[in-house]
Amino acid sequence: MRFFNVLALVAGASAAATGLLSARHDKDKCLKKNDVDYLVAAYKSILTKWEPAKADFIADHGFFDYSDSINVIAGIPTGFPIFPNKTAFVSHENTNPESLPLVVVEIGPYNCEQITLIWSATFTAIPGGTPLPVRGITVLEGDYNERQRQWEIQSIKVEFNSINFWKNIGGVCTRPAPPS
Ligand SMILES: *[C@@H]1O[C@H](CO)[C@@H](O)[C@H](O)[C@H]1NC(C)=O
Repeated sequence: MRFFNVLALVAGASAAATGLLSARHDKDKCLKKNDVDYLVAAYKSILTKWEPAKADFIADHGFFDYSDSINVIAGIPTGFPIFPNKTAFVSHENTNPESLPLVVVEIGPYNCEQITLIWSATFTAIPGGTPLPVRGITVLEGDYNERQRQWEIQSIKVEFNSINFWKNIGGVCTRPAPPS
């Protein structure tokens, strides 16, 4: 009992410290199936055909996009969010949108605030190249914006077949030598 009280205190203190009295902690605001479909469609729409107005799908505060798969392709160290805030994410989309032909293969289990989905995108950036399927798994976190009365994407965690992605953008991979 004492343990849970301490946890509640810590959670309360950190929420107050960041000024985020988030609807995520409001038990009345759990994702329902239509909210899940809405956020998955928003995510797909961002990656398929970015438009500046789609920044409204992203929560203003505390947003991040974490993907070691992207970090590897971008040639930067792994282990930290590629886009640590909304400004970084939106400015990336405004200048260099993915425009991926993303197909949602399966919407997986979800709970009050998180959604899992499996997607696939088959494309090639190389004229005459062979498009390879890139399959990925995304975990979206939703946040209910009380003022706007709509769900927003609070965070994105995504990992995917970065080898096929790499080849689709003209990269070359060499198979390692078999163990001797
Ligand atoms: C957002 O993240 C970028 C790094 O991508 C950083 O340079 C910038 O200061 C951050 N902005 C805010 C408002 O935290």
